[in-house]
Amino acid sequence: MDDLRQKYLDAIAGAGDENALEDLRVAAVGKKGEVSLKMRELGKMTPEERQVAGPALNALKDEINGALAAKKVALADAALDARLKDEWLDVTMPPRPRNVGTIHPVSQVTEEVTAIFADMGFAVAEGPQIESDWYNFDALNMPDWHSARTEMDTFYMHRDEGDNRPPHVLRTHTSPVQIRALQDQGAPIRIIAPGRVYRADYDQTHTPMFHQIEGLAIDRDISMANLKWVLEEFAAAFFEVDHIEVRFRASHFPFTEPSAEIDFRCSWDGGTLKLGEGDDWLEAGGSGMVHPNVLKSAGIDSNEWQGFAFGLGIDRLAMLKYGIPDLRAFFESDLRWLKHYGFMPLDVPTLHGGRVR
Ligand code: DAH
Repeated sequence: MDDLRQKYLDAIAGAGDENALEDLRVAAVGKKGEVSLKMRELGKMTPEERQVAGPALNALKDEINGALAAKKVALADAALDARLKDEWLDVTMPPRPRNVGTIHPVSQVTEEVTAIFADMGFAVAEGPQIESDWYNFDALNMPDWHSARTEMDTFYMHRDEGDNRPPHVLRTHTSPVQIRALQDQGAPIRIIAPGRVYRADYDQTHTPMFHQIEGLAIDRDISMANLKWVLEEFAAAFFEVDHIEVRFRASHFPFTEPSAEIDFRCSWDGGTLKLGEGDDWLEAGGSGMVHPNVLKSAGIDSNEWQGFAFGLGIDRLAMLKYGIPDLRAFFESDLRWLKHYGFMPLDVPTLHGGRVR
């Protein structure tokens, strides 16, 4: 029995793979294995012999089974180690440059603008592009008789005949996100909302889908002065100059009171645009102090809270910063155009990294 024991324990220790182990199992403790055959001989023994040999054989069988199981685990561990070593990958190696297309100027500018406002404490908020007319108009102080509704060239979603519920619209501006964000988060709040908007309009400076970025800051004592500072900081960072003067031009929007159009000081000398100098003014968007009715429709107490809002055109900002003359080209998916105006995914510094002066 000792010989048997030594023979199998040695063989198991030396087994090179799972198949060899299985062969040993069959040879030792399989139905016709050596240990099993010995167990069959128990019947021919005297009761005294059996009393000694029985437990010893059982113990041998257990020992061999134990050795087989332990070796199986050891082999699996070794195989895993070998595989890990084999498939080792240095994730700190620099990537091989691979042509994966370019970043669209609209995406690039959205990211730049978002990063600048994030630096000033504005979080990003979102809303749906298919919007109820309540969010798109009513909640923004534009009841259904309001002329601003028709001015916006709205796309209305289809309603079955006889279905008299108010229609949904493709949102005509990002301003409804003001309402949604206020309902969700209440006041105080500081958000921007970049995204797609839609109007039935098409020429060199208008496309049926374009992009806006909405800004909203509500607190107890926010004023037009805060608005002006935020816009000046933004413009200087975005156009990468030290300072850009912002001019407010009195205007009217239903959702702000007072309302102001935003102009940036610029020059067009020699046909090239320079920001921050000169005697021209560049129209950049709309803004104002949020109308009390807007706060009310979002469930905010206008006696306690006040603040500013603004809306800027992202596509227009991209055209100005990167000298792109025709808005329509943005949406034509022309690969040559994209290669010319697009941004490499890996090598273009974004403003996330900080502003270089
Ligand atoms: N929603 C306006 C538009 O699309 C732009 C705008 C004007 C947004 C004034 C504002 C604002 O937040 O205060 O024409």
